[in-house]
Amino acid sequence: MEKKGKKQKKSDLPSGKSEMSNEKAHPSLSQEEKELRLLVLLKTKKSDKSEDALAKALNTSIQDLLDVAEKLNDKGYNIHVTKDRKLFLSTAVEGDESEEAIPISISNKKFKVAFLSEIRMGSKQAQISLLHWLYEVVFVKEDIDFVVVVGGLVMSKPTATTESDALFGDAQELADYVVDCFPRSKKFKTYIVSGKGELSWRAKDGIDIVSAICNKREDLRKAGELEKSFDIKGVRIKAMSPWDDNSPKAVSYGPQKIANALKDDPKPMLLVFGGLHRRARLPKYNGMFIETVPSLHKRMMRQGRRGVEPRVGYTIAELSFGDNWMFDPSVGLKVYLNALDHYTITNDVYDINVSRAANLDDVSKQVLGWFVKEHIISAGDLSRRLKMGKEGVAGIIKRLSNCGIKIPFKPDTKRYELEVSVKRKFAPLPLKYEDVYVFATKEASVSDNHSGSKKELPDIFKKAYQDAADAGVRRMYHPGDVTDGPAAAGYRGHNFDVKFSDLDGMENHAVANWPKVKIKVDPKKPILVSEMINNDDGTISYVTRTEKSQKEVWLQTDIIEGNHDAWAWKSIGHLIVRTLSIRLSGLLRYLGSMFGSVVVDGIYHKLIHPEGGLGYSLSPQVEKHLKLIRESGESGGLPAIAYLGHFHSSFMLYDERVGILVPCLKGPDEFLETHAMLPSLGMFINEVFTDKEGKKITRIASEYRDYYPMYLKSKKDQAKF
Ligand SMILES: [Fe+2]
Ligand SMILES: [Fe+2]
Repeated sequence: MEKKGKKQKKSDLPSGKSEMSNEKAHPSLSQEEKELRLLVLLKTKKSDKSEDALAKALNTSIQDLLDVAEKLNDKGYNIHVTKDRKLFLSTAVEGDESEEAIPISISNKKFKVAFLSEIRMGSKQAQISLLHWLYEVVFVKEDIDFVVVVGGLVMSKPTATTESDALFGDAQELADYVVDCFPRSKKFKTYIVSGKGELSWRAKDGIDIVSAICNKREDLRKAGELEKSFDIKGVRIKAMSPWDDNSPKAVSYGPQKIANALKDDPKPMLLVFGGLHRRARLPKYNGMFIETVPSLHKRMMRQGRRGVEPRVGYTIAELSFGDNWMFDPSVGLKVYLNALDHYTITNDVYDINVSRAANLDDVSKQVLGWFVKEHIISAGDLSRRLKMGKEGVAGIIKRLSNCGIKIPFKPDTKRYELEVSVKRKFAPLPLKYEDVYVFATKEASVSDNHSGSKKELPDIFKKAYQDAADAGVRRMYHPGDVTDGPAAAGYRGHNFDVKFSDLDGMENHAVANWPKVKIKVDPKKPILVSEMINNDDGTISYVTRTEKSQKEVWLQTDIIEGNHDAWAWKSIGHLIVRTLSIRLSGLLRYLGSMFGSVVVDGIYHKLIHPEGGLGYSLSPQVEKHLKLIRESGESGGLPAIAYLGHFHSSFMLYDERVGILVPCLKGPDEFLETHAMLPSLGMFINEVFTDKEGKKITRIASEYRDYYPMYLKSKKDQAKF
C-alpha cells in the first residue's frame, strides 16, 4: 500500500482514477492515503460525491471523511459540504466566492462564532496580550466554536506615513512573528479573511502573507480575500473587509451601500464587516442582519492625523437552532458587542523591564515614563521638559541605566534612544472575566405604535411585550408616537388616517389596548418599580421602590411624547402621553414631551423623539445625539443609552455610549410608501454589562425581534379596499 501511495503522490492526481475503480475494498487506509484518495475522487468528474459514497470508498465513517476533508482544507484545499450533503472541491484561485462549510456537532444546537478585526500584528499599537486574554479566558468561557478575523490580522506593508508605527518591513519576519505570537487553541480554528493590509504585502513583495502564516499553524486557516462566506447548517454568514482607514465617514453608510448592491443568492443571514473600527448593528437591513466588528489595536499615528478613532473589542454571534435545524434569526440570533477600549496597554509589543526602577526618585520615574511611551527624545527636548541642563539630564539617564534600562545618547542625532526588544512571548492580560462583565440590566425598546391610526398593529404591540417578558426584560423604553395624535391636528387629511375623530376616543382606545404583561422578580436581581404620586397642586411625580420578593410585577415602560402625540399640545395644550400615564399609572412612567431621561439599574437612559429626516445613512442622527450627551455631561458620568424614536428604522451604535434607532410597530403608511421607505417593524432586546465599577458599558448582548413577517401575514389575511 505504501508504495502505491507514493506512486500516486508523484503522478498527477486525476490519473489515479483507474486505480480507484479497480479497487473495491480498502481496508483501513492511512491518513495520507485517505486524503489522496478523497482528492482523486473529488477531482473525478463522474464519481458520486455524496458523503455516503465517499465514506464507503474510503472505507470509513462519515465523521472521519469530514475530518479528512478538514485536514485537506488545513493544507490549503477548499472542500465544502453542500446542502444535499455532497462534498465539493473548489478550484477557484481565491476562495472568495465559495463557501466554507462548518462542521457542527449534532449534540449542540447552539453555535458561537467570534469575530475579530484589525488586530494589526506587526504594529506598535497591537494589543496582543489582550488577544491572548480573549483566546485563553473569554473564548474558552464563552465556548466559542470558531473565530473569524475579518481582515487586518497584520499591519499593512509600511509606507512613508506608517513606517513609524511598524515593527517589521520584511514579510517573512512578520509572518514568523505572527506564527510565534498569535494565541493558539486546540479547541477551535481561526479563519483569516485577508483585508487590504494583508493584500498590500502581496502587491509590494509578492508574498501571500496569510498563506505563509497559515501553512505553519494547524489552527489558523486562510479564508478568502476581502470577503468569505461560511455555511453553518445552512445558515450563511458572510464576512467582508472592503476598507482600510479610508472607510466612509458615517458608520452605516458603507455597510448600507454594500448591502444594497449585494448580489448573493441566497442572501446571507448575517453580514459582518471588519475594518470600520466601530461597533454597530443594522438588524434586518435589506433582508440581512448586519454587524460591524471593532478593532484590536490602539490608535496609530496615521489614524490620529486622519481623525480615525478605533474602538477596541470583538463581536460574538450566537446561533440557536430549533427542531430539525430550523433557524429563525428573529429568535435564534444573539449578537454580543464588546468594548475593551479601557483595557488597552501602551508598548504591549516590547519587552521593557521596569521592575528595578521602582525605587527611583520621582523625576527619574517620570523620565522613564516618557521613554516607555515615546522611545526617542532629543537631549534638547529633555532639557526643556525638565528645566535642567545637559549634565542634569545625563545624570538621570545614568540612574536609569544603573537599573538596567539602557537609553544611550546618539551623537549624530543628538537624541536619547531607549533600547527595547520586540516581545516574542505573550501572556493573557491579568483580567478577571467576572470583573470585566458585570450584569447591569436587560431592557427592550419599542416605539411608534401610533395607537388609533388605521395602520396600527395592536396585536404585534402586545406580542412584543409578551416576548420581552418571556426574554427576562426588566423594563421597557418607548421614545414616542404612542398615539397617532388628534384627528383634528397634524398634516392635512390626518383626520382620514385615524380610527377616532375625538381625542377621548383615541385615548380610551390606547388605554384599552396597552399591553399588560407581568414579570417574575428574581430576588437576586431586584427590580425597580415606579409609583405615581398625585401632588397637591395637581401635577404628578414619581417615587421608586425595589421589589425584592419573588413576586410578579407589571412590566413597566418609561415613555415620552412623539411629534404625533405633541400635536395635541401644539393645538390645545394637552399632553396625551401624560394623560395615558395617569390612567395607566401602574404601567407607564411619563418622562416628558419629545425627550426625557431617567436612571435605571445604574444606567442613564435618554429617550428622544428627534425632529427632521433621516436621509440615506442611519448612523448620523444617532452620532449627533450621543455627541450631545457627551458634551452636555448630562449623564453625570454614568454609562448612557439613548433611544431615538420617530424614524421607524432600526440601528444600534455602541461607541463609549449606546445609541439606538428604535424600530416602529406600525404598518407602512402613505408617507413611507411614497418615499420608497420600508419601515423596520421590530424590537431590540439588550442585555447590558458594565465593568466592576459600573462606570463603562463593556458588553451589549443584543437580540432583535423582527415582526415584519408577522405584519406581512396579517396583511395577507385581511387585504380589503
Ligand atoms: Fe412615528
Ligand atoms: Fe414621529
